[in-house]
Amino acid sequence: MKTGRKAVPSGSSLSTISNVSSLTDSPADALVMDKNIVDHKERRASEVDRMFSSIAIHYDLLNHILSFGLDKGWRRKVASETRKTECRKILDVCTGTGDTAIELFRQWKGQVHIEAIDFSRELIEIGRKKINEAGLNGTIFFKESNAEALPYKDNQFDVVTITFGLRNIMDRIQALKEFYRVTKPGGVFICLEFSQPAHGLFHALYSFYLIKLVPMIAAVLGSDAGAYRYLGMTIKDFPPPRELVRLIESAGWRDVTYLSLTSGIVAMHRGKKY
Ligand SMILES: C[S@@+](CC[C@H](N)C(=O)[O-])C[C@H]1O[C@@H](n2cnc3c(N)ncnc32)[C@H](O)[C@@H]1O
Repeated sequence: MKTGRKAVPSGSSLSTISNVSSLTDSPADALVMDKNIVDHKERRASEVDRMFSSIAIHYDLLNHILSFGLDKGWRRKVASETRKTECRKILDVCTGTGDTAIELFRQWKGQVHIEAIDFSRELIEIGRKKINEAGLNGTIFFKESNAEALPYKDNQFDVVTITFGLRNIMDRIQALKEFYRVTKPGGVFICLEFSQPAHGLFHALYSFYLIKLVPMIAAVLGSDAGAYRYLGMTIKDFPPPRELVRLIESAGWRDVTYLSLTSGIVAMHRGKKY
């Protein structure tokens, strides 16, 4: 494992499409976790990297269990959204163990070149292993890289996707500008991220599940409660969908819309580069 690095894990009923147009990132508090002492608002990229790497072994299993398997449908939704654009090259940012990249491969039946980047070497290694075991060698090109400084020239990709990654990025505007820079004119950006259901009973139950139960379940299943507590805190502080629209627009993206999925647990945003 790399040293000094570390952080967080990873939504269809269609409800809302909104097209709003200035914005700010969410503010910052402090929280100290157990084993992974990562302040979710003052965190450094190295800490987030180290944290994600520390939960790499259980990462996929916990994603499926904690989301009751919904994560698979959410990823399918993202991949099917990419099918609306004529594609030769797709970049999946913050790819983790590559589940979204693999779904992209499946839906495009190998007809697109897929690059998948993440700064956690451990998660990428698991992704590479999955590709090998599935006999898909040479179909998805993993790279260890920071989303805030992409190792690509301008105007390279038809689509840039990110699932459950934007929340974890320190400088979101910088990253969104990087996604814009490497996207071809006419290309699109698709972001799937956790959100929060509107107020009410479901909101209260969901908050309880996120903040109290998820860390406990993670610990029982042998992962790190602190990392999963961080997950809940970052979801709580992430800009709501309409604010995220403005954040994405501030990086240059146009025609930004979103779709709330699974009663608002996640939201899928889409933006276009002209
Ligand atoms: C919650 S995971 C999501 C992984 C995957 N996309 C999925 O859907 O399961 C967030 C990922 O973002 C990565 N990450 C966070 N900040 C990053 C950055 N600045 N550059 C690259 N990767 C980053 C983490 O290493 C982690 O793999």
